[in-house]
Amino acid sequence: MKAAMAAGVWMAVAGSGWAQSSAWYDRAVIYEIYPRSFQDSNGDGIGDLNGITARLDYLKQLGVDAIWVTPFYPSPNADFGYDVSDYVNVAPEYGTLADWDHLAAEARRRGIRVLVDFVLNHTSDRHPWFIESRSSRNNPKRDWYVWRDGSGPGEPPTHWTSIFGGTTWTFDAKTGQWYYHIFLPQQPDVNWANPGLRAAMYDVARFWLRHGASGFRLDATPYLFEDPSFPEDPHPPKPGGAAGLEPCNSGRPENHEVLRELRKVLDGFPGQPVLLGESTTATIGELRKVYGEHGDEIQLPMDFLFGNRTRLDARGFKKEVDDAELKLGGQTPVFFFSSHDHPRQWSVFGDGKNNDRIAKLTAALTLGQRGCALMYYGEEIGMATMGAGELSKVPLGPKRPRADPRDGERTPMQWDGGKNAGFSAGSPWLPVEKGHTTYNVEREKRDPDSIYSWYAGLLKLRHTNAAFRDGGYVPLDSGNPEVFAFGRDAGAKGRAVVVMNMSGSEQKVRITGFRGGWPGFAKVLMASLAAGAAGAAESGSFTIAAYGVWIGGE
Ligand code: NOJ
Ligand code: CA
Repeated sequence: MKAAMAAGVWMAVAGSGWAQSSAWYDRAVIYEIYPRSFQDSNGDGIGDLNGITARLDYLKQLGVDAIWVTPFYPSPNADFGYDVSDYVNVAPEYGTLADWDHLAAEARRRGIRVLVDFVLNHTSDRHPWFIESRSSRNNPKRDWYVWRDGSGPGEPPTHWTSIFGGTTWTFDAKTGQWYYHIFLPQQPDVNWANPGLRAAMYDVARFWLRHGASGFRLDATPYLFEDPSFPEDPHPPKPGGAAGLEPCNSGRPENHEVLRELRKVLDGFPGQPVLLGESTTATIGELRKVYGEHGDEIQLPMDFLFGNRTRLDARGFKKEVDDAELKLGGQTPVFFFSSHDHPRQWSVFGDGKNNDRIAKLTAALTLGQRGCALMYYGEEIGMATMGAGELSKVPLGPKRPRADPRDGERTPMQWDGGKNAGFSAGSPWLPVEKGHTTYNVEREKRDPDSIYSWYAGLLKLRHTNAAFRDGGYVPLDSGNPEVFAFGRDAGAKGRAVVVMNMSGSEQKVRITGFRGGWPGFAKVLMASLAAGAAGAAESGSFTIAAYGVWIGGE
């Protein structure tokens, strides 16, 4: 694969796929850690920063390039940390700023980068900025938030719906105006049009970059601005529903200016700091815009068109990956399934019988690609989503002040099969999922056929096999609608093929699309136990077992 760099964007040479660029993040695996649930170091039942530090050797051995730690700021926990009351500090339950510095330094020593979750669309209603803002109409910080008069007595300015359901407006009796929140009332949106607010937010970014962060995961990026005329929502959700992306509440052109400015702040620091965006879009064309017209905004916008899929569908996945490769102008795609907002993929795609095989398949689907892939803690051991019935029996209390519909994917990491799965010596804030006696790090590391070993193998391929490390994506035709096959091509350095049977029965394939014909993959780089693929080396026509994955190389 030959490729040339022009204007900051990788250019393909006629007919080839896009090569990997050389920035670290363009080929990184970024591992998301929900700090409350990863490792408790002091026995209070709540995971913490020192717990993460204690597990860095595990992450190094697994082979991840970076970790994204979800919010550990002081917070009233109306939305478990996504309601920030102090941007430049650490919540006591997670540790201290010194613990953070220690984590960042220890990670760096191991060659692992750390990303901070930057919640820049809203603060907590207990943040001092908001307390000042709501104190009077002429407070200097009044305009740091979005205040409007009602449209009549007791009537909000508009009838928009929040992402979490209910209205986006809360009335403040003291000053007689309404404030805007696309999420909870405890999460007032800041006003990015205000220069003072902007400067303060950029200082927050500088603070964490000086404290060892290699960049940020940006929360809720589509929502930074609203249509300033506040029209009625043209597509209001049904009663009880939640808002989607609407022209009035998201994707405003003003977003780009802020993201360019923020990117400039990052570019002033060494080490290629990165922005990883929670950049939900409705179309691939919109996703392309998130990178910036000149590649000068978010380097890594998460591809929700891929990540929100919940059904194994070979044609559907081929479409998403082909789109990401062919319609993003050579920018780096970001593939993922699980997160603290998404139910775990072992449960989502599993059919109740073949979940482990399917987990290996979905791993190959994200980690086999060119570009950046995200993992969510516990994904590598096949952790399951805890069921709502089980969760409803867990009492609320100081450690679990409220139930959240996403608690099922936030249960403690399963380190071993013993008490509390090795997460905590105390009583965990959420119980450990019952599968932990089988699905745990300690057991799976010893089993060469485990989900853990499969993930470790894929991560090793990404680092050591030229086709996976440097190669472009090659769209292929598997000749079978149940099978998704794609190639990776690093030219003279090597080619590879990934073949995934997304159905519960054996399938025949006849793979075409490599320039010059089937290369004849003599090496089986990896194959899930289910994947018999005799004949693959010679002809590209072979049979692949139910939910099988076959990865061949030259
Ligand atoms: C997206 C975060 O991922 C989610 O967990 C949070 O509830 C909302 N943004 C609000 O910050
Ligand atoms: Ca703790």
